[in-house]
Amino acid sequence: MTHADPAPLSAFSSCALKGTLRVPGDKSISHRALMLGALASGRTLIRGLLESEDVLNTARAVTALGAPAQKTGDVWEVLGRGTGGLTQPAGPIDFGNSGTGARLMMGVIAPHDVSVSLVGDASLSKRPMARVLGPLKQMGLEVEEKRDRLPLTIRGTSRLVPITYTLPVPSAQLKSAILLAGLGTAGETTVIEPEATRDHTERMLRHFGAEVTTAADGNGTRITIKGEAELEGREVTVPGDPSSAAFLIAAALIVPGSDITIEGVLVNPTRTGFYTTLKEMGGDVSFLNLRQEGGEPIADIRARFSELSGVTVPAERAPSMIDEYPMLAVVAAFARGAMRMDGLAELKVKESDRLAATAAGLVANGVKADINGDTLTVHGTGSVPGGGTVATHLDHRMAMSFLVMGLASAKPVNVDDTAMIATSFPQFRPLMEQIGARFGEGAA
Ligand code: S3P
Repeated sequence: MTHADPAPLSAFSSCALKGTLRVPGDKSISHRALMLGALASGRTLIRGLLESEDVLNTARAVTALGAPAQKTGDVWEVLGRGTGGLTQPAGPIDFGNSGTGARLMMGVIAPHDVSVSLVGDASLSKRPMARVLGPLKQMGLEVEEKRDRLPLTIRGTSRLVPITYTLPVPSAQLKSAILLAGLGTAGETTVIEPEATRDHTERMLRHFGAEVTTAADGNGTRITIKGEAELEGREVTVPGDPSSAAFLIAAALIVPGSDITIEGVLVNPTRTGFYTTLKEMGGDVSFLNLRQEGGEPIADIRARFSELSGVTVPAERAPSMIDEYPMLAVVAAFARGAMRMDGLAELKVKESDRLAATAAGLVANGVKADINGDTLTVHGTGSVPGGGTVATHLDHRMAMSFLVMGLASAKPVNVDDTAMIATSFPQFRPLMEQIGARFGEGAA
């Protein structure tokens, strides 16, 4: 799959960032709302769906499988087919850049008598799929190819068998794929999760009427779904994405004089490790007006410029901030002292090898950073020279993190391609400009 031509962009040192704003809907919840809407009987209405390329690909995927998803006015409507009711698509399904879309949909497709070819862009076609295909094959899914990468053709069956599976890696995508397959499987399917990962699938399955129970299992959790439940179409309101808000909050902390508030952001504790860490670094970050909406906790997040210090981020925190490490590493460059981030193995299999790419981006801008096994250490001095060009490797979060760096570095920072930002946060640039950020086309 090809993508739009590369769109290089530079970020320039900016005056104080100010304002009150909202970020678009959470990506994880948006994917799941479309998928469960497709598996429920009747109409699901989704407000605040993230309209990014990744999520729009999932909307097209459920439509191709016989559950049309479309927007009417401000609301997305999915006409669900009921559990086990999806139908054979006419052609291959393209997931673009989205690991979440591809992996979760494998679980959605598995309990259906359909054969589906899944394809993706150059980044997605490099990402490991065996972690999901292994347990789904144990349940009865067939995979035509021997390889572990897209493109792949999978053949589901309405006679899957339930399994009990312990996650070998802390991955919410893997957990979710198994639970979604379990939804269409007679009997009880159990996932044992040694380390907590984001729990939006469990919460949303319950919201749609499925029986999902959790129990302590050693230090972890045992999650069981009762299969062949009849889900009912529901209304879903998607809260603001804390992984998108992270870029604006980080920018406010490092640009002198800044003070911003982002309203209505998801603050589910399985997603807030980044904010916990910023506070430990001395960041003036607060969650205001804490409330519940649609079964998820939300808050308004306020952040003000702060003098920051490096801290050690424990490995156990990684799942709750896995997408925020490139941004955190950039913030660490503006802090004083060493910032040590442990347990980053999963960063190597994201949209790019984010561990290597983040260290390279820092070094290119005059920041000392080193990788030792799964640990990244950034040696912050309180200021960043900048002036480098960052290779984003088809990775939206690399692009956004280093553009934020350029707002507070001595010289501008160039990123080689911003086209992929549209996969998760198309409004990144206008929202940043709204609070005062300065960007320029091409290399500075
Ligand atoms: C996601 C889970 C995480 C995360 C991704 C979204 C999800 O991936 O990096 O952006 O929605 O379940 P892993 O499950 O691979 O850690």
